Amino acid sequence: MEYINLGKSGLKVSKIGIGTWQASGDAWGQDVIDDNIIKAIKRSYELGVNLVDTAEIYGNGHSETVVGKALKDIGRENMIVATKVAGAHLRHDELLKSAELSMKRLGISYIDLYQIHWPDPWEQIPLRETMKAMEELYVQGKIRAIGVSNFAVRDLEEARSYLSKTDIVSNQVRYNMLQREIEEEVMPYCRKNGITIIAWSPLAQGALTGKYNVENVPRDRIRSGNEVFKPENMKQIERLLKILKEIAQKRKKTVAQVSLNWVISHEGVIAIPGAKTPEQAEENAGAAGWKLSDEELKLIENELSKIDIDYM
Ligand SMILES: NC(=O)c1ccc[n+]([C@@H]2O[C@H](COP(=O)([O-])OP(=O)(O)OC[C@H]3O[C@@H](n4cnc5c(N)ncnc54)[C@H](OP(=O)(O)O)[C@@H]3O)[C@@H](O)[C@H]2O)c1
Repeated sequence: MEYINLGKSGLKVSKIGIGTWQASGDAWGQDVIDDNIIKAIKRSYELGVNLVDTAEIYGNGHSETVVGKALKDIGRENMIVATKVAGAHLRHDELLKSAELSMKRLGISYIDLYQIHWPDPWEQIPLRETMKAMEELYVQGKIRAIGVSNFAVRDLEEARSYLSKTDIVSNQVRYNMLQREIEEEVMPYCRKNGITIIAWSPLAQGALTGKYNVENVPRDRIRSGNEVFKPENMKQIERLLKILKEIAQKRKKTVAQVSLNWVISHEGVIAIPGAKTPEQAEENAGAAGWKLSDEELKLIENELSKIDIDYM
């Protein structure tokens, strides 16, 4: 496993973490079984993964409860526990309450990385109020680092201006081969300011694993709304998957590992693939510790330049 500094927090974090939105119940499919996700988290830990990501909103707290069960066996101090406060709880008092409830469900007395899940969707709560609450938790030692998620550069700048005792250490954003919006502004800004990018959907929710194609796409509630799986997009992705498979075979890796390696090949970027089983978790952990060559990266880039994902 490879590790990098989580922003300026002093925490060393594995370049592959594990995401647990999957532990939300059947929204991710009928094959979601809590026990398997607990095993996936434990297997990840055995392989050097030390970051687990959850959120109060995932299954209305259920994901945090599942993560809490895994932490009991792993030992809380062995994991960097990242969770998120939902957009509906960004008022000072509500945020403090959310943090307490998250800790209770997780069975822990402090959160390593507390993240604002989305900027206030209704733009009614002053960001200053939210950041002051976050800093209060930090000063009290209830959280070890402050992170944000889905923040644009202007949100990051404003949020950072309200902090006086610490800085934002991470921005969790969507990033994978097919969805690269952050490369334009967010990524350069984060790099320049020592903010780690935590890539969500690094496998494009499974589209970049090679197991789906035009005829076979996931039908669960969450992914049926993901445009990536539309036939006209999958047709294009199939061509990319062919290249990824060739690279994977040559390197004795899997397509998912090549896709994840591509994500973490970008400076200052780590990935938190979601896993439903210990097998998936093991495969994903194997995406670190080796590097795609410049030639392989070029091949991928060339294929990506021909893809135009339709979001309508
Ligand atoms: N901050 C935010 O707003 C935000 C938003 C989304 C996600 N997240 C976080 O990011 C994490 C990851 O994102 P994501 O879950 O959207 O997408 P993802 O990690 O790109 O895809 C996860 C899905 O891919 C499939 N998969 C995973 N590993 C695999 C492997 N080795 N081989 C084959 N299939 C594999 C699994 O589904 P199947 O087996 O059913 O195909 C799994 O549910 C989430 O769990 C969550 O913690 C955060």
